[in-house]
Amino acid sequence: MSKCLICSDNFNPFVDFGNMPIANAFSLKEELFNEYTFAMKVGFCENCNMVQLVEQPDREKMFHENYAFFSSTSNYMINHFNDFASSVISLQNLNENSFVLEVGCNDGIMLQSFLSNKIPCLGIEPSQNVANVAMEKGIEVITEFFDQPLAQHISKIHQKADAILSANVMCHIPYIHSIYDGVKTLLKDDGVFIFEDPYLGEIIEKTSFDQIYDEHVFLFSALSISYLANVHDLELVNVEPQITHGGSMRYTIAHKGLKKVSKNVNRLIEKEKAIGLDKKLAYMSFTKSVDKIKDDLIGLLTRLKNEGKKVVAYGATSKSTTVTNYFGITPDLVDCIYDTTPIKQNKYSPGAHIPVLPYSQFRESNPDYVLLFAWNHAEEIMKKESDYMGKKRHWITYIPDVKVS
Ligand code: SAH
Ligand code: TYD
Repeated sequence: MSKCLICSDNFNPFVDFGNMPIANAFSLKEELFNEYTFAMKVGFCENCNMVQLVEQPDREKMFHENYAFFSSTSNYMINHFNDFASSVISLQNLNENSFVLEVGCNDGIMLQSFLSNKIPCLGIEPSQNVANVAMEKGIEVITEFFDQPLAQHISKIHQKADAILSANVMCHIPYIHSIYDGVKTLLKDDGVFIFEDPYLGEIIEKTSFDQIYDEHVFLFSALSISYLANVHDLELVNVEPQITHGGSMRYTIAHKGLKKVSKNVNRLIEKEKAIGLDKKLAYMSFTKSVDKIKDDLIGLLTRLKNEGKKVVAYGATSKSTTVTNYFGITPDLVDCIYDTTPIKQNKYSPGAHIPVLPYSQFRESNPDYVLLFAWNHAEEIMKKESDYMGKKRHWITYIPDVKVS
């Protein structure tokens, strides 16, 4: 039995992925003998509806001065965050007297839009290397983990916030109650806390099990977020689906009773109940679907190997750490992974030890098949590579099921 991080009720895990390394720990050859792992199991709390990891590595093991994820590697995401910022500017009528705070601003991908609109803003980003990139853009950043004590500190040196924003960060934080306390402290009466994360409904529907890795301690739904907000005298007032990261949800939270609640909230909660996100059964059948993908993908890669085909992978994503380690994909089945992120290149993938090579070498490698680990960027990547792939090279994707195209 495990204790729920939200409501302290007991629950049993519904899936056990075995021992997993840190998803973003791309290592040099000499570091491979000493890899840290943790037992990755996921559970569903029937009381508050939160889906969560049972165990998570210490935050300093994941977020530090060598953090490997730089937000601005996707042009699509640059546009997405520019649009996100524009929507907040018009929703809250922001101007040079306003104040915006972003939790987990990474390389400044979103705050750069507020800066160019002369709207005062502050980023909180504990991973020093990515924070440095934001600071080089002229963005003010505090390089610490956001929590209630830091919020108290910020409240002494800044006005309260018109908007607190966060993307793909809230689901990383097991001490989420401290975050919500901090939001309650820092949010103006008419302020909004808007955050987005991969959406549980999409993960279940698409069987995108690879959204589960060390950093993703929670898989949120409107059901679980409304429960959590309520505990902190806050309220879920809007939900807006996003297509990013394979299907995300943007949640808007306000002080309880101070903003009109959109009809979208109840509509989504009813839909979640209709598809059973509040019942154990949905999670049991998810686990079966994951194992079918595993059998199909390993079967395909083994057949291609026996036929002497060259298979490489594209995008050394955090998600691929779950795929390679749970499925047992090693360099025997996939030669290497090509990626544009310099800090990942000429290293080995966590656990599976597949070499990660610079994207610049992708085309000369002349593969027969390319396993798309960055499937959430499929549209952008397949368009970019369509000339090269032509008719004689093939993509392999595995979400929602194994497909060769
Ligand atoms: N918002 C960006 C980055 C997401 S990656 C995007 O959507 O692309 C998650 C980021 O959250 C990392 O940069 C990590 O350092 C940061 N992070 C993790 N815990 C945090 C905390 N408690 N406070 C602020 N940032 C945190
Ligand atoms: P992403 O899917 O955004 O994240 P996660 O780590 O959360 O699973 O990661 C995309 C990775 O793919 C990143 O390492 C950069 C790489 N990438 C490319 O190599 N080429 C591309 O065209 C794109 C869009 C991404």
